[in-house]
Amino acid sequence: MRRQGRRPLGADVESADQPPSTHELSSNAAYNGARRVLDGNWTGSSTVPSRALYPHQWSWDSAFIAIGLRHHAPVRAQRELETLLTAQWADGRIPHIVFNPTVPLGAYFPSPDFWRSSSAGDLAGAPTAVETSGIVQPPVHALAALLVHEADPAESERRGFLPHVYPRLVAWQRYLTERRDLGGRGLASIVHPWESGMDNSPCWDAPLSRVEPAARGTFQRADLDHGCPADRPTDLDYCRYVRLAAAYRDQGYADGPDTALFAVEDPAFNALLIASEHALAGIATAIGADPSDHLVRGEQLTTAFIKRLWNEDAGLFLCQDVISNEPIRERGACGLLPLILPGLPDEVVSSLVTTLGGEHFGLGTTTRMAPSYDLRGAAFDPARYWRGPAWFNVNWLLERGLRQHGATAAADALADTMLATAVSSGFAEYVDPVSGEARGSRDFSWTAALVMDLAVRSR
Ligand code: SER
Repeated sequence: MRRQGRRPLGADVESADQPPSTHELSSNAAYNGARRVLDGNWTGSSTVPSRALYPHQWSWDSAFIAIGLRHHAPVRAQRELETLLTAQWADGRIPHIVFNPTVPLGAYFPSPDFWRSSSAGDLAGAPTAVETSGIVQPPVHALAALLVHEADPAESERRGFLPHVYPRLVAWQRYLTERRDLGGRGLASIVHPWESGMDNSPCWDAPLSRVEPAARGTFQRADLDHGCPADRPTDLDYCRYVRLAAAYRDQGYADGPDTALFAVEDPAFNALLIASEHALAGIATAIGADPSDHLVRGEQLTTAFIKRLWNEDAGLFLCQDVISNEPIRERGACGLLPLILPGLPDEVVSSLVTTLGGEHFGLGTTTRMAPSYDLRGAAFDPARYWRGPAWFNVNWLLERGLRQHGATAAADALADTMLATAVSSGFAEYVDPVSGEARGSRDFSWTAALVMDLAVRSR
């Protein structure tokens, strides 16, 4: 990346002898603001995604948070992941929420008394010392752990960080590659839209429409106390989310192709799974273990992934509905995220880059950051959660993918836009992809963490 700034980030550039560049000013503002957000959202052992809307610990949020936090407070970044792993289930799953027992039940729905993990998850090996949800989120964790280690290897070694997390991360990956291979093709399935992290993407509309909604009035949403209803999923979506989660709970959180009411192979989830398998190879090497099993698995997963989910006509990866055994013909940002993978055929890379800048996502032409869903899709909505707005984690992954595959100018431009948009939006949870107007909550932790990472890397 560019190395134009010679002063440390956060330094007082206004009064320095040499005038700061626009890029340096923007990086400094992003870094300082990000530090304020991350310090404010730290609870003492982990980071809440947002003080009001998400007052517990979330799985993939913590992985992204650790990736940024490693620059500012590397030991805190290690603790972020270690705290999450204390809630890992004996079957290997890392739950998507770890509940803070000091937070009142009504502050977030679905609360621990809905999931009842320590009793309903007993057979699946849920911990008894902490209450969690029973579903998962995308596996960014091994990638995060390796990056966190690399930020301060001496402190990581002194604390035994990698030897501690490595077997736990292997168990997590094996849970996904074995118990979650519901389609029998070597890929992991998600069993709830929340497991994608992209909760109400139009990609889930068709498989979700088969789920009988829970009756309205049988539960109380807490998210609307803190967010604008037009930025959040609808009540009908929530009725289906609740039904699906309750059904999974009532079957003891057991996984199997015959019991799932919703089973989808999501390209973003599987790409992150593969990226994390490569990261496990890096971790194994760092601790003197044999990385070859991870490298072989990474290659096997990539082969199955391309065969099953690549769609040349659409120019991106499509989700596969495992229950109907059909591709879902919606263009979601999830179909572009495999750009983070090494070892993709050149024609796949070039097609993904073309699609990213083309009429459906418009990056660098009609949009400032890639939208979460097809600009031309019938369900596109620039405000509502995952149905169109641009998210910083998605764009951070795309920036990484573009850079990795040699599209340096596009990656630099995206990084600059993200730095400026994070600051101008008050570190928003998500933004309008064209105007950059803030949506969702503000002072959002992964927005802060990931632009902190960009600011440091672009010095
Ligand atoms: N993202 C979901 C929520 O909005 C669930 O993790 O609460």
